[in-house]
Amino acid sequence: MTKWTYSDIPSQEGRVAIVTGANSGLGYFTARGLAEKGCEVIMACRNTDKGEVARAALLEQEPAARLKVMELDLSDLGSVHHFADAFRSSYKNLDLLINNAGLMAIPLRRTVQGFEMQFGVNHLGHFALTALLFDLLKATERSRIVNVSSAAHKMGEIRFDDINWEKGYSKWRAYGMSKLANIHFTHELADKVAARGIDIRVVAAHPGYSDSKLIEKGPEMNGQQLMVRAGRFVNSFVAQRTEMGALPQLFAATLPDAVHRGYYGPGGFGGMRGYPQRTYPLRRKVSKDVQERLWALSEKMTGLSFLSK
Ligand SMILES: NC(=O)c1ccc[n+]([C@@H]2O[C@H](COP(=O)([O-])OP(=O)(O)OC[C@H]3O[C@@H](n4cnc5c(N)ncnc54)[C@H](OP(=O)(O)O)[C@@H]3O)[C@@H](O)[C@H]2O)c1
Repeated sequence: MTKWTYSDIPSQEGRVAIVTGANSGLGYFTARGLAEKGCEVIMACRNTDKGEVARAALLEQEPAARLKVMELDLSDLGSVHHFADAFRSSYKNLDLLINNAGLMAIPLRRTVQGFEMQFGVNHLGHFALTALLFDLLKATERSRIVNVSSAAHKMGEIRFDDINWEKGYSKWRAYGMSKLANIHFTHELADKVAARGIDIRVVAAHPGYSDSKLIEKGPEMNGQQLMVRAGRFVNSFVAQRTEMGALPQLFAATLPDAVHRGYYGPGGFGGMRGYPQRTYPLRRKVSKDVQERLWALSEKMTGLSFLSK
């Protein structure tokens, strides 16, 4: 395993990236890593006040960084359309789309369109965002899409017969399903792009286990302050630093020879910590049949069709 780190990110001068969920955790460090190397980074955040606080913190460290906060709430397809329109009115190219934002193991909630929240935000919102920006990515040389999944994909099943968890909601199984969807989406998008000879590299990454705020959101929504503190406590000695956890997605986004349809994660203990390297999703969880069915379902649920003909 090579000790690839922030200083190894190649120059990103002249490039434009969108990082969803860039105000916090892995998204924050992803924005930092790209901006330090000259990339203009659009910090796509559901709460623009939090986004501006994060932007100010990044600018303190890197005054020359080119950072812009734009509002994007992935739990509302209307907001995804609005974000894409606003982006298109200012930019004609998009070099990197980093589909990073996410929620984990939250109580049952619904998106504005009525989808189960984890599937809605972690997968469908990003599916819609990618569809709406696809032509800009296509028009940009050497562009790339990175989907952030998780080791939790291993406990996922795509429940085609109850995609919105109308029955027997399990917050962890729903998270696993959404993260497995990230892998299937990556594979089907990569296959479609390759079959059409389009010059976009499509990759997935996961951070292992990092000490971000992800673990706190579920208990916070349930008003369980003790569990929030317990999560922080566990993180403080089990998880690796978020700065380290962001490396696989930066590796996937910037490594010149990153493999189309590849998956990148930490190479250390149990794939949960360490420097980034190529890894593989659990083989028995992925199949062409499921990825095709998920694509068709995602088009139907979002009302957005792309690369289907
Ligand atoms: N940390 C880990 O160990 C770990 C492990 C495996 C995978 N991951 C994945 O890594 C990604 C980033 O998570 P993180 O660990 O950095 O957690 P985090 O610190 O909680 O950051 C998550 C980001 O997603 C944003 N977000 C949540 N709901 C959103 C919505 N509806 N629309 C737009 N943005 C929304 C959050 O915004 P707010 O700040 O406004 O809530 C935040 O900016 C997720 O996809 C997660 O599944 C993390």
